[in-house]
Amino acid sequence: MPLCLLFLLLLAPHCLGSVFTAPEQLTSTKYDFIVVGAGTAGCVVASRLSENPTVKVLVIEAGVADNTTEADLINIPFLAGQGIGTTIDWNYTTTNQAGLNGRAIPYPRGFVMGGSSSINSMIYFRGPSEDFDRLAAASGDPGWSWENLQRFIFMNERHVAPWNNRSNAGEYDPRAHGHGPLLSSVTADPFELDRRVIQTLSDHPEKYPFNMDLNSGNGLGFGWIQSTVGNGVRSSASRAYLHPALDSRTNIDLLLHTQVTRLISTGAAGSTFTSVEVAQSAGATKFEFTATKEVILSAGSIGTPQILMLSGIGPKNELEALGIISRIDLPDVGANLQDQTILSLQWEAKVETLSSFLSDPAAVNAALAQWTENKTGIAAGTSLVNTIGFLRLPEDSPLLKSGDPAAGSNSAHFEFAFLNTFLPNADQPAPLTGNWVSAAVTLQSPTSRGSLKLRSRSAFEHPIIDPAFYTTSFDIGTVVHAVKALREFFSASAWDGFLGSPFPAVAALNTDEAIEAYARTWATTVKHPVSTAKISKIADKAGVVSPNLLLKGGANGVRVVDASIFPFAVAGYPQAEVYIVAERAAALIKETWSLK
Ligand SMILES: Cc1cc2nc3c(=O)[nH]c(=O)nc-3n(C[C@H](O)[C@H](O)[C@H](O)COP(=O)(O)OP(=O)(O)OC[C@H]3O[C@@H](n4cnc5c(N)ncnc54)[C@H](O)[C@@H]3O)c2cc1C
Ligand SMILES: *[C@@H]1O[C@H](CO)[C@@H](O)[C@H](O)[C@H]1NC(C)=O
Ligand SMILES: *[C@@H]1O[C@H](CO)[C@@H](O)[C@H](O)[C@H]1NC(C)=O
Ligand SMILES: *[C@@H]1O[C@H](CO)[C@@H](O)[C@H](O)[C@H]1NC(C)=O
Ligand SMILES: *[C@@H]1O[C@H](CO)[C@@H](O)[C@H](O)[C@H]1NC(C)=O
Repeated sequence: MPLCLLFLLLLAPHCLGSVFTAPEQLTSTKYDFIVVGAGTAGCVVASRLSENPTVKVLVIEAGVADNTTEADLINIPFLAGQGIGTTIDWNYTTTNQAGLNGRAIPYPRGFVMGGSSSINSMIYFRGPSEDFDRLAAASGDPGWSWENLQRFIFMNERHVAPWNNRSNAGEYDPRAHGHGPLLSSVTADPFELDRRVIQTLSDHPEKYPFNMDLNSGNGLGFGWIQSTVGNGVRSSASRAYLHPALDSRTNIDLLLHTQVTRLISTGAAGSTFTSVEVAQSAGATKFEFTATKEVILSAGSIGTPQILMLSGIGPKNELEALGIISRIDLPDVGANLQDQTILSLQWEAKVETLSSFLSDPAAVNAALAQWTENKTGIAAGTSLVNTIGFLRLPEDSPLLKSGDPAAGSNSAHFEFAFLNTFLPNADQPAPLTGNWVSAAVTLQSPTSRGSLKLRSRSAFEHPIIDPAFYTTSFDIGTVVHAVKALREFFSASAWDGFLGSPFPAVAALNTDEAIEAYARTWATTVKHPVSTAKISKIADKAGVVSPNLLLKGGANGVRVVDASIFPFAVAGYPQAEVYIVAERAAALIKETWSLK
């Protein structure tokens, strides 16, 4: 009897996908596929590839399991965002940002199974159809168009009722939703704030259109946000894809606490990269694993370009200056980094908001206890944002004179997100009493582009991250416009009897100059970096990966599947687009290797 079957009789789980916490525990060094990073995209790819029982998949993740002492910060919807700065965050920091008055800002990324999908704010927004159509145009591959991706969109996500079964009729469109493992839902607890947002829309439908389902391909207007929450728990890539695969299959292994330090070049021309070098810390022993088919890099917009450059794949001169042997000269690795900004403005509320609840530790503890026992209550049904709006600059805006950076005329330049409490900007002192509401203004279509570079040849030193925020007049001008547009929105009669005085710093925003100064003082990242390994047309010398996501420059055996491939900042929120790209990527890989 094969050993595995014997175990199956005794101790079934041991025969299923194994989880290892150190490289020396693995008994095999050869797999068909090696997926680098158990993040948002990596979990999808690993899960889909392992559907075929004839292939063996190894997933290598630098971070930790998602059942550690920080698990509540992952699982409890109400605590979304609280994983930042803990053991499940890489804790990166940007360079001093000239556009942000010289501030260096924290740059969180998930260091845990599920990657950033385990620490993000859970907003599920696919963006406008034009975003995908632009991706298809930029890559020359119609397979990336909105219409042609529908199958993968439906494979990814499934809309479910909020935990309390509140009727969500009219708040989303069932026709826009599929049958995938990732769960999404609208809030279980709409607030008075949200009712006032909806009232403003019905009073001014021309100016502020209601969009019943922001995930229908029409990404403009206002509506109910869908969050990656189901049954009162965060639905991360790990929970939706990786755990079910590990729990039911024998052909997938996961190696945690282990960083891929570089790809090793083999083959006559030295351009095949199907082996990976790993280590648990800077001084630790190095190990090697080999993929007989492909290595899939899903280490994210920071990790992926870092690994490529450590492997000699990137801008030749820069790598040689650090003492790294250049293998493939691809100047766009790490170039083009784009991200979006968020800026909070706050008002006093004349009715009770979540501020009262949040300043009452007994109430908060009771809610957390209720979640722990029953996965119900306010902690189960609400993240930070219930309602949101995507808007454009006026068509005659001088900011659009030199071109429109949005994906098309139905794509947003900026966004409002409504929060039922005081959302402080980073390091901004928050009032301890009173009831407050906030609106976060995000820049959707930045034109600033920065870069990611290696600090040294050590894989364990954080790279140099420069998103170059607000380095164009379009970006800062759009934010100034957005703040004024927000004040106009709040001047509608629906807000009478609800909105009180603005917070003093907001009350002082009387001129464009004052708004610009406020933005440069307080804006931070909305945590959506992309484009550090961007896709481009087959014949295009620029770019890092081909339309099928295989590495360019004559390299063999490596595909990049994560947020780094997007050529432009994605409209809205990137996780949905990352999931969709990963679903199609897995299908492309299966096609390449004739796997079902
Ligand atoms: C705090 C926060 C809030 C956000 N809020 C939202 C939101 O509300 N909605 C939304 O759509 N998007 C949001 N985002 C962005 C979104 O989560 C990301 O764009 C998306 O998850 C990125 O997916 P990815 O697969 O590219 O990378 P990730 O999910 O980050 O996965 C990369 C994985 O690779 C691992 N890794 C990296 N380097 C190595 C290495 N050398 N060796 C081994 N493993 C490695 C990492 O540990 C990680 O697990 C947020 C992000 C953050 C950080
Ligand atoms: C935590 O999760 C890991 C990975 O899924 C698993 O191997 C381990 O057994 C879990 N530990 C506990 C205490 O459940
Ligand atoms: C991030 O910082 C926190 C707080 O200092 C620390 O506990 C955690 O270990 C750090 N994360 C990593 C991956 O080092
Ligand atoms: C919601 O509906 C589901 C499925 O019908 C049911 O199992 C659950 O108990 C309901 N929850 C509440 C709070 O009514
Ligand atoms: C959990 O639900 C049960 C049954 O409805 C209820 O009796 C109990 O009080 C709840 N627990 C908490 C902590 O709210």
